[in-house]
Amino acid sequence: MLFKNVLPLATLASLANAATSSSSATTTSRFYSTIDPSATEIAEAASKAETNHKTSNVQGSTFERFVVIWLENTDFDKAAESDGLSSLAKHGITLDNYWALTHPSEPNYLASVGGDYFALDDDRFISLPKNVSTIVDLLNTKNISWGEYQEHLPYTGFQGFNYSNQETFANDYVRKHNPLVLYESITDDEDNLKNIKNFTSFYKDLEDHTLPQWSFITPNMTNDGHDTNINVAADWSKNFLEPLLSNDYFMKDTLVLLTFDENENYALKNKVFALLLGGVIPDELKGTVDSTYYDHYSEISSVEANWDLPNLGRHDAFANVFKLVADKSDIVNEEVDTTYQVNNHTYIGYLNDDTIDLPAPNVSAINKNGKPVLDSIKSLWSDEWSKQQGDGYFTATTTTVSTGIISDATTTGEISATDSAGKASNITSSASNVTFSNTHSASVDSEAKGAIINTGMGASAILAIVLSFFM
Ligand SMILES: *[C@@H]1O[C@H](CO)[C@@H](O)[C@H](O)[C@H]1NC(C)=O
Ligand SMILES: *[C@@H]1O[C@H](CO)[C@@H](O)[C@H](O)[C@H]1NC(C)=O
Ligand SMILES: *[C@@H]1O[C@H](CO)[C@@H](O)[C@H](O)[C@H]1NC(C)=O
Ligand SMILES: *[C@@H]1O[C@H](CO)[C@@H](O)[C@H](O)[C@H]1NC(C)=O
Ligand SMILES: *[C@@H]1O[C@H](CO)[C@@H](O)[C@H](O)[C@H]1NC(C)=O
Ligand SMILES: *[C@@H]1O[C@H](CO)[C@@H](O)[C@H](O)[C@H]1NC(C)=O
Ligand SMILES: *[C@@H]1O[C@H](CO)[C@@H](O)[C@H](O)[C@H]1NC(C)=O
Ligand SMILES: *[C@@H]1O[C@H](CO)[C@@H](O)[C@H](O)[C@H]1NC(C)=O
Ligand SMILES: *[C@@H]1O[C@H](CO)[C@@H](O)[C@H](O)[C@H]1NC(C)=O
Repeated sequence: MLFKNVLPLATLASLANAATSSSSATTTSRFYSTIDPSATEIAEAASKAETNHKTSNVQGSTFERFVVIWLENTDFDKAAESDGLSSLAKHGITLDNYWALTHPSEPNYLASVGGDYFALDDDRFISLPKNVSTIVDLLNTKNISWGEYQEHLPYTGFQGFNYSNQETFANDYVRKHNPLVLYESITDDEDNLKNIKNFTSFYKDLEDHTLPQWSFITPNMTNDGHDTNINVAADWSKNFLEPLLSNDYFMKDTLVLLTFDENENYALKNKVFALLLGGVIPDELKGTVDSTYYDHYSEISSVEANWDLPNLGRHDAFANVFKLVADKSDIVNEEVDTTYQVNNHTYIGYLNDDTIDLPAPNVSAINKNGKPVLDSIKSLWSDEWSKQQGDGYFTATTTTVSTGIISDATTTGEISATDSAGKASNITSSASNVTFSNTHSASVDSEAKGAIINTGMGASAILAIVLSFFM
């Protein structure tokens, strides 16, 4: 039995899960300028855009094609009760314990391909640096073809913030719902951009039998329910999928996941409706329910397990694998106690505090299919991982610290702390430990070094220390 908040991926990010919103008041989010080209620039770029139609046939344990479709902002019950989705559910397996990760939209999309949402807590323009890997790096190890189909993306490879309906200027395509374009490891390579396509390409690839083995489909802001309602999204899903479910080429060895980015009511548990469909669903499982705990990270872990791929060293490595896939490889999923889980707020981290470094992936992570972290990630991040694990230098000054111990603080430098009234306070330094008690802010100079191993206080106190000194 496992509680979600103590998942073994003890990166700074997950330790930070207990952040209180008060600590965010003082942070500054990372800033990115928005790409907002004019209509003429778009037309010009569209006339030059090239499109890939790559396919491949790499065998997997369960499926040879994985198609992910995301709808928007709907509570589980509302989705399950809709005519369109309840009718589709007869053809597949309903996942009734599938969780979105946070709010609002963009962090969920971001996490679905990168294994983390890096503390994003809004829908602004962002771009993760090139040294952050995605599922594409994993697929590339076996030359498994991949692509995206984003409805009304004005041209293949468009990186702008939005593309509105050119007559009504209503929201149509939006970058925040396009997971791969949020990563420079994708956008910095021209050939990758040729795989970021729209629905025109989807129907061409369907017709020409050039669908990629992994794809992510985003309907526009009308069809995904964002600017409309669940009935529109459910009807769109039924109309889009029903013809495909009787298309032999599409169905052959295919697994489709239809789900939602997040639920609508932030006060409810952020559980979303999810449905597995496609040619690999055995007849006896059609119309059934699987209550295994899954979340958006399962979209990556299930792909890893299916094609026996390495992992990203982020939450993907520890996420449950769809039972359909897990059963093929004797993978045992974790039972997760969700009694106290809501997934309705973020934490203080990289994207909402510009003083915090990128969290290093856990370079020793082994995923559910027994594979290590991708080699290129390991070589790039090993040092940073060790450093963030506590062997590094504390450089920051800060913040709300209550009680905690830094062990092995082999410092000879200055260590100081003040209480909430600004008075020098209870910080004692023994030979190798620094102890805080009832201090309000503390600073350790850049010579100090050590690991935080204990605290007498709740998680928010640990958080503050961690964030203070691991920057
Ligand atoms: C890193 O991954 C390894 C292997 O899965 C795991 O045993 C370890 O607990 C993880 N470390 C942290 C700090 O999460
Ligand atoms: C992937 O494709 C490249 C280029 O065609 C080739 O050199 C490489 O051997 C292929 N790798 C695998 C695992 O098939
Ligand atoms: C889709 O992308 C293609 C290729 O770039 C482009 O020619 C076409 O105009 C786009 N279609 C829509 C509906 O945006
Ligand atoms: C993006 O959205 C803004 C605000 O609705 C709109 O003014 C602008 O024309 C849109 N950009 C494009 C390229 O559609
Ligand atoms: C979204 O796409 C549908 C066609 O699939 C279209 O009818 C609708 O107008 C589009 N929404 C907007 C805002 O353009
Ligand atoms: C999260 O849900 C809890 C429990 O319903 C609620 O008390 C809290 O206000 C919610 N937080 C946010 C940020 O909406
Ligand atoms: C990753 O890239 C960011 C942004 O360029 C940089 O600050 C960071 O040091 C890099 N980390 C590693 C481990 O390469
Ligand atoms: C140290 O902490 C105690 C409470 O445990 C408090 O009464 C005392 O004022 C603190 N000392 C200083 C110097 O702040
Ligand atoms: C440092 O703290 C650890 C953990 O509480 C403790 O086991 C150890 O004895 C302390 N060392 C010193 C020199 O105080």
